[in-house]
Amino acid sequence: MNHKYVSPYVPRLAELVTARQLTSREKFFEVRLQDGSALGHQPGQFVEVSVFGVGEAPISVSSSPTSQGLGFELCVRDAGSVTHALHELPEGSTIGIRGPYGRGFPLDELKGNDLLFVAGGLGLVPMRSMINYAVDNRADFGRLTLLYGSRTPADLLFADETERWRGTPDFHVATTVDLADGAWTGQVGPITKLFGGVAINPVRTSALVVGPPVMFRFVLKSLLMMGVYESRVYLSLERRMKCGVGKCGHCQIDDVYVCQKGPVFPYTRVRKLPEAL
Ligand SMILES: Cc1cc2nc3c(=O)[nH]c(=O)nc-3n(C[C@H](O)[C@H](O)[C@H](O)COP(=O)(O)OP(=O)(O)OC[C@H]3O[C@@H](n4cnc5c(N)ncnc54)[C@H](O)[C@@H]3O)c2cc1C
Ligand code: FES
Repeated sequence: MNHKYVSPYVPRLAELVTARQLTSREKFFEVRLQDGSALGHQPGQFVEVSVFGVGEAPISVSSSPTSQGLGFELCVRDAGSVTHALHELPEGSTIGIRGPYGRGFPLDELKGNDLLFVAGGLGLVPMRSMINYAVDNRADFGRLTLLYGSRTPADLLFADETERWRGTPDFHVATTVDLADGAWTGQVGPITKLFGGVAINPVRTSALVVGPPVMFRFVLKSLLMMGVYESRVYLSLERRMKCGVGKCGHCQIDDVYVCQKGPVFPYTRVRKLPEAL
């Protein structure tokens, strides 16, 4: 008998195919596993990225599984030791990848519904995977709406792609910033300001919310006031993670390991958490 044990902590080797500065704080990476296999992720899942000699960090997969090619895409903010080291790596460098991990967006439950995407800041990174999945499977979904809030115009992520989504049939896109500059002619203010300008049919709408915890409470209130059913609201939660595989307890909330049961949760499952109250 040949029982070869492979530890869940051993990463697969991968190449940083491209590394491009997106904003002053975020870099975009195209990554390819060295064994030539596809990552096999679902929108909303994450990977543990290792920079050898420095450490690991959980990062959402930003590309859709429907995108062409074998690689996958990440968008990473320079926030600390691992992410800074990743920003410093030149194209062609070898990194480690574990995963994909966690539960992403519930594709079967979303099928047939109108989708309202609400993304704040870096929340657009995992949301982009789901948005492009919906665009690539357009016939499976009804009306698409994206409400996206960013700190400043210079912090807006994927500006070209946002414009492309705007040009997709039956896709309404609205953007706001907290602090405008002289050239900005769009909305200014919190993301909830955008809710007044959207016409949704609440009975057919599933709402997907990804962003900083401070955003959740106000967005949830607006969604419920618009008549979106609680059971059709999904949130992606970020908790400090280490192992990503339900072993270390770093991400634990009560009896739930966010790395395994999340990061995407139905609102009805997490409504008692501080950010949802
Ligand atoms: C599921 C998931 C998906 C994510 N997806 C993305 C993504 O797509 N893109 C992205 O850029 N980021 C993403 N993040 C966040 C990312 O994982 C963190 O920014 C990253 O782990 C930081 O690691 P680091 O080693 O670079 O920073 P660290 O050196 O760990 O520091 C990060 C920041 O946290 C502070 N800090 C460090 N330790 C502690 C502590 N014990 N308590 C409180 N504060 C502390 C530091 O001062 C610093 O400000 C995601 C996180 C999760 C959980
Ligand atoms: S990150 Fe270790 S249990 Fe979730």
